[in-house]
Amino acid sequence: MNHIPEEFNTFLGPKAENAELLTRLINKVIETQANWRKSAYPYDQGLFDPDTHTCFRLEEELDKFLERSKKNFPYFHPRYMAQMLKDPSLPTVLGMLTFVLSNPNNHAYEGGPVTTEMEMEVTDMLLKMCGYKEGWGHLASGGSLANMEALWAARDYYKQGHVFFSEVSHYSWKRICTILRIGEFSEIAVDRNFRMDLNKLEDELKMKKAMFVMANCGSTGTGSVDDLEGILSLKEKYGFHLHIDAAYGGFFRTLLIDENGGEINSAGETVLSEHTFRQLKAIERSDSITIDPHKQGLISYGAGAVLYKNEKLRNVILNTAPYTYHKTDKPNIGMFSLEGSRPGAMAAACYLTYKVLPLNNAGVGGVIGNCISASRKLYEMLSQSNKYKNLTYPDLDINCFYKTDNGNTIDEINTATLAIYNQFSVEAENPEFILSKFVLPSETACRLFPEYSNPHNHNFNSLRAVLMKHWYTMKDFYYLKELVEKLEEI
Ligand SMILES: Cc1ncc(COP(=O)(O)O)c(C=O)c1O
Repeated sequence: MNHIPEEFNTFLGPKAENAELLTRLINKVIETQANWRKSAYPYDQGLFDPDTHTCFRLEEELDKFLERSKKNFPYFHPRYMAQMLKDPSLPTVLGMLTFVLSNPNNHAYEGGPVTTEMEMEVTDMLLKMCGYKEGWGHLASGGSLANMEALWAARDYYKQGHVFFSEVSHYSWKRICTILRIGEFSEIAVDRNFRMDLNKLEDELKMKKAMFVMANCGSTGTGSVDDLEGILSLKEKYGFHLHIDAAYGGFFRTLLIDENGGEINSAGETVLSEHTFRQLKAIERSDSITIDPHKQGLISYGAGAVLYKNEKLRNVILNTAPYTYHKTDKPNIGMFSLEGSRPGAMAAACYLTYKVLPLNNAGVGGVIGNCISASRKLYEMLSQSNKYKNLTYPDLDINCFYKTDNGNTIDEINTATLAIYNQFSVEAENPEFILSKFVLPSETACRLFPEYSNPHNHNFNSLRAVLMKHWYTMKDFYYLKELVEKLEEI
């Protein structure tokens, strides 16, 4: 077998290739926990004898539970490409398990000094990776919560003004505006690359005083990266807080950092397109960022993050309580976060992962750069097909495409595309591949794809493949070739 770089291999693997390694390391974690417990208050006696108190019910229920666990979709497998789901790295599992066993809570320093310090270190790593030389941030349970806190802090800091984001932004944005009672928000149309149309944004900026513009660095549907450089020019002209929703795409910034922490200065030295490279570079000139370790940061679910360049934004959301935050000389993250209790185990998982796989092009970047290459490969293969068309060029690693061989109306495309979806999705019995859909509202479809008539004003269905597993480049893109072959056969 060819040599596989270590960063590639720091996962359980689609065929549990690393099961033995993981078992050995999990045993080490449990042994350490047991020894720690035995050594705490050594003069106390144990409270029960495990030989006479066997947990029969646990064993019985666990067996049933484990059987049930196998009924999920195989998110670990390269044939599953439907949603943003993949294997967490091994250090994530071990980092999390270590602290799940002792259960610290990072809302206050006293609830988890070790994991609070790890969270602060992880935040520093993220700030540095995003090119913020100063600032503040913390982990959150996910991107929606991180987005919400950022807009809450901005609303209370700036007090007034309009909020703008593109029409393909994550659904959380509209929901957050509703929760925060921000009535003044506008969705800006996108262009055919699913990036915010900056002419339309500027038209709006001329009419409304902007407070907050949110730009996508990896939209949920197509992974599109907005023209951040262009938005930054508008920021100079009109003045507003620029927030980047890099929940999905932020970790691709690791590709701009070399092993020694130096900057990589040209797209040509990376697998990124010129557009994506430049926008990832421009992130450092934004005011705040949402970035999710649980998406392309190789961590399991439950890990988002919010970063602010101006630390003062946290002061407007400060809260204290008479029964906690006793260590006033130490960081008490919960005083400045929307969420209260948060698992210290999550911070630990991030910490160990980024020690093993640092936030540069040899660590996390060395893993997820493969997803960009895979996505480009699928795009190229589909470009040569007579039956399929790419919806747009992938800025990151999400490919959307549709079937065209049946004609030129959106109804005909939908019929052909949905027939594939029904065979290659969670709707099918034993599907060979599992894809999802990206559905454009009819109005957007008519505007962006005028070449297709849409007499019944139907939505436009495309197939969506999220190529966030780095395995796709292996064995000469075996799984992608197999996918295209199967698609062509139908
Ligand atoms: C761009 C973007 N922002 C925000 C979110 C919300 O993140 P979460 O599901 O972690 O709350 C997502 C989720 O897919 C996303 O893709």
